[in-house]
Amino acid sequence: MDKFIIQGGGRLKGEVTVGGSKNSSLPIMAASLLAEGPSRIKGVPGLADIRHTMALLEELGAEVRRDGDAVDIEVHDEADSHARYDLVRKMRASVCVLGPLLAKRKKARVAMPGGCAIGSRPIDLHLRGLRALGADIQLSGGDVVASAKRLRGASVFLGGPFGSTVLGTANVMMAAALAEGTTVIESAACEPEVADLADYLNAMGARVNGAGTPRVVIDGVESLRGAEHTVIPDRIESGTFMVASAVSNGEVTVKNARMDHMMAVVDKLRQIGAIVETSNGGLEVASARRLEPADVTTQPYPGFPTDLQAQLMTLLCLADGNSVITEKVFPDRFMHVAELLRMGANIRKEGPTAIVTGVRKLVGAPVMASDLRASAALVLAGLVADGQTTVQRVYHIDRGYESIERKFAQLGGDVRRAAE
Ligand code: UD1
Repeated sequence: MDKFIIQGGGRLKGEVTVGGSKNSSLPIMAASLLAEGPSRIKGVPGLADIRHTMALLEELGAEVRRDGDAVDIEVHDEADSHARYDLVRKMRASVCVLGPLLAKRKKARVAMPGGCAIGSRPIDLHLRGLRALGADIQLSGGDVVASAKRLRGASVFLGGPFGSTVLGTANVMMAAALAEGTTVIESAACEPEVADLADYLNAMGARVNGAGTPRVVIDGVESLRGAEHTVIPDRIESGTFMVASAVSNGEVTVKNARMDHMMAVVDKLRQIGAIVETSNGGLEVASARRLEPADVTTQPYPGFPTDLQAQLMTLLCLADGNSVITEKVFPDRFMHVAELLRMGANIRKEGPTAIVTGVRKLVGAPVMASDLRASAALVLAGLVADGQTTVQRVYHIDRGYESIERKFAQLGGDVRRAAE
């Protein structure tokens, strides 16, 4: 296992380029199971989660090859429809093979993902949606066992207690693409990754309209063919570097960051006192002044993303006053609080809310990464803290950030990887 050793203190300056979206790549790669013939997905980041998905698709009879930032996928053998627990356990997003397997192979057996560091994460909405399309779904030995002779279009409502579901919307959309007739998803997730998946499905010959809005209409087709597609830039990686620039009083241009995907984040950073401008091919974030406190509530897109909550908390730890952070998507997602406290932060947690009182400085300390985004927040804290911080268990970060230490080095940050 690796750890990061971080020397804090410097201002981050320069340019960094973000890669393709992890959360787009995963369902898009799964959607390739629907196709006849080869697909080429471009802009796929080199991450542990992507390697797990490649291994899963291979187990499911696909030939999968990486060629630079592209991944070529072609299904040769449809006999095995079982996504086994040892792979699903490593990555919850494996659940998005459920819709494609069911639609294309008429059956699927997918291990239930189970809990994870950010909460219980049920998949009831996925199952409700697929049942509405006519699937028979049972639970057996910890697996979801689904079958359907023929999926039929239906009206499906995907709103849950915490809003819609991103991967649930993806699963139903993928299944509906090959169903008979028209499916209408109401209360669909509006995330750009859902719209990106729809673009890929449409390139394959599907007829999906309205993706990116709460109402998606899918007219089922007989078959889909492999297609070429480039995934959108990763908006969470973009946001992480934007927050890093602001917290370090830096001046960073985040190349490939898209203003249209980042509105809630840009709005909050400006409120806190950062200057954010579009700059050629990206967004420039600068801050040379005192940081203002802010109240932030995470929400489904286009609201402030839960995947940037931890990173923003690091920033607010150094703001001049009290901030209130309310987590409305994953109410238990506060694992980073205890670690930030070890670095001298002043945070009080009350249920799904954290009250952050700004301090003058954070102090380097040994801390432990607990989940992907919480770990990124600790790296940011280390970069601005006095002295040295070690972040243990960085395999969490490697799940979602490609060469983060190299990218920070480019900006003048001192993050070194070492064996634990
Ligand atoms: C995706 C993202 C993840 C992000 C999350 C919310 C991927 C690979 N992952 O996860 O990074 O944090 O969206 O933006 O794209 N829920 C239910 N029932 C369900 C499904 C979800 O109650 O059947 C709840 C969840 O517990 C959570 C909320 O709905 O409170 C949103 O979850 P969801 O959008 O499904 O997250 P994922 O798609 O798993």
